[in-house]
Amino acid sequence: MKALETISWDEETSSILLIDQTKLPLSYRIIRCRNVDRLITAIRRLEVRGAPALGIAGAYGVALAAITTRERDFPRYFHLVESAALDIGKARPTAVNLSWGVFRVLAKIRLARSIEEVRIVAVKEARKVADEDAAACHVLGDYGATLLPGTGTVLTHCNAGALACREWGTALGVVRSAVESGKNISVIACETRPLLQGARLTAWELKRDAIPVTVIPDSAAAHLMRKGEIDCVLVGADRITRDAVFNKVGTYMHAICAKSHDIPFFVAAPVSTFDRVHSEEEIEIEERERDEVAQWSGHATVPDGVPVRNPAFDATPLSLVTALITEQGVIRPASGWVEIAGKHRVI
Ligand code: MRU
Repeated sequence: MKALETISWDEETSSILLIDQTKLPLSYRIIRCRNVDRLITAIRRLEVRGAPALGIAGAYGVALAAITTRERDFPRYFHLVESAALDIGKARPTAVNLSWGVFRVLAKIRLARSIEEVRIVAVKEARKVADEDAAACHVLGDYGATLLPGTGTVLTHCNAGALACREWGTALGVVRSAVESGKNISVIACETRPLLQGARLTAWELKRDAIPVTVIPDSAAAHLMRKGEIDCVLVGADRITRDAVFNKVGTYMHAICAKSHDIPFFVAAPVSTFDRVHSEEEIEIEERERDEVAQWSGHATVPDGVPVRNPAFDATPLSLVTALITEQGVIRPASGWVEIAGKHRVI
């Protein structure tokens, strides 16, 4: 499989490099973020997206703030870095990894005693976050691969692949590990209205790895389940609370359909996506702009004056989840909530 680095730190220029996910599949373009404002714009525009990639963006973002903040007085310098870090953490509210990545690096630099030390420690810790994410995806991929049939079709929603992480992916990491282990897996990718992360990104990265993929309209999923064409549903997550999995809007609908057709519903996510502090009702679901739904290629698809709702995520109760696949093992929520030993805090 061809290695893909979705987000990285450029040592030479002290900047963040991102694959621009708004341009795929038409063009492959790298964006360079030289300051925190540009990074926040990239996060809001979904140039970088997907929970684990957002965690890495948060971590590198703190490193960027540490490097670009020019103040010489240490307490004032630290205050500025911290407030830039908090702004990054708030750029998108639902994926817990973003604030988790920010907090990981903040916690480390709070121990530093000079500006120089803050800069060195921030870059080092952010790199560690990225490396750990890659390792977690490979390990959870291997755990998840054992749950897939020798030959079968997996339905997925949104993009929980290499493009949503540093590399390999969560849900698509499971698919990659299964294929690598010799299983004959093909993927049905729901297009994922309105921004088409499934059609544009999942299809792009699977095609690149020669893994068979077919794109369907989101609304065709129930039909294919009823026809017996889907062996399991496999998605990623933006946040897993003690009672629900938050993921791209439409995931809940697939979970209900899967239950009703007796199809396993798997969620693959690193422990950095677990939120052990909050429950479903406390989580803000990001509502995005009207035009993402009401326009297509510059043309109106909804009459002027007609209201539009555009929630980016939904919550699936854990009772509908067959198994949560993590780098620390597989959890079956039906047998009760299992604490994960990963270090985790939310700012
Ligand atoms: O709005 P997005 O594209 O950031 O939403 C991404 C998803 O919902 C993914 O499924 C989730 O972040 C898991 S990525 C491994």
